[in-house]
Amino acid sequence: MRTIAHISDIHFGRTDPAVVEGLAQDLAGRKPTVLVASGDFTQRAREWQYRAAAEYLKRLPTPQLVVPGNHDIPLFDVIRRIFFPLHRYRRHISADLRPAYMDEELFVLGVNTARSFTHKSGWISEEQLLDIKLRTCKQPPGVFRVVVTHHPFIPPPRDPHADVIRRGVEYIDELEDCGVDMLLAGHLHLAYHDDLRSHYKSAKRSILSVQAGTATSTRRRGEPNAYNWITVSRDLCTVAVRAWNAKDKCFEESLVTRYERVDGAWQREKQVSVDKVAEEVLVTHPPEAIPPKRGI
Ligand SMILES: [Fe+2]
Ligand SMILES: [Fe+2]
Repeated sequence: MRTIAHISDIHFGRTDPAVVEGLAQDLAGRKPTVLVASGDFTQRAREWQYRAAAEYLKRLPTPQLVVPGNHDIPLFDVIRRIFFPLHRYRRHISADLRPAYMDEELFVLGVNTARSFTHKSGWISEEQLLDIKLRTCKQPPGVFRVVVTHHPFIPPPRDPHADVIRRGVEYIDELEDCGVDMLLAGHLHLAYHDDLRSHYKSAKRSILSVQAGTATSTRRRGEPNAYNWITVSRDLCTVAVRAWNAKDKCFEESLVTRYERVDGAWQREKQVSVDKVAEEVLVTHPPEAIPPKRGI
């Protein structure tokens, strides 16, 4: 069994200091196999925001696998945006735009989907797709394979027209061919997960698509700050959402979902617990009340 601490959208420059501290404390006693951060480290890719994010990452468990998000490319500095889009990211967060973690049971590959020529959208290039295929296909049989992007492959159930990865349907064949088991992403500041086939009717392989909410940003969309604590083994997976409890000022388990792979298909076994935080979300933010994205 392996464990993944999956944080996303920490957005330094637009954070809640109490939540920032609370997340560091919640992760301090934990030893995930790998900590994955799926992009949007900063709010506007400014130097001071990158410095703060980099300092913060040093406090979190290692090893870490990180990919950039659309907010990690400067928005208003056009020269930098076009000619040096991820210069600051590479200097402060990671120089590696195609990172990987691997051991005998788990392979995790990071893919950069942030782009200069679009404000919010993202995609995977032909070259990156080939890279995914070459590196993932050669993993030994039985290794659990995870691909990390900033942009999600599937929309949240409560917002089916949300901005997902562009041309996603064109990547499915490759992901299937190299036996990808799970996709991790963020971007929409909402925590949700499902079989990829819930959105791509042509997909044949059952792949779990798991999104994390924003861990520390104040730009929430009707959900508390949260991150995912994920355990994986060959045919069993548990996604535990750990959400910020503003009253007690701590992260706590809010929603735990177990999946079992039966005859090649991930089946949602049961929701193990719904605590008061999740119930509060459902009561105070019914599906029709999700606030608009406003530049997420
Ligand atoms: Fe974000
Ligand atoms: Fe984003």
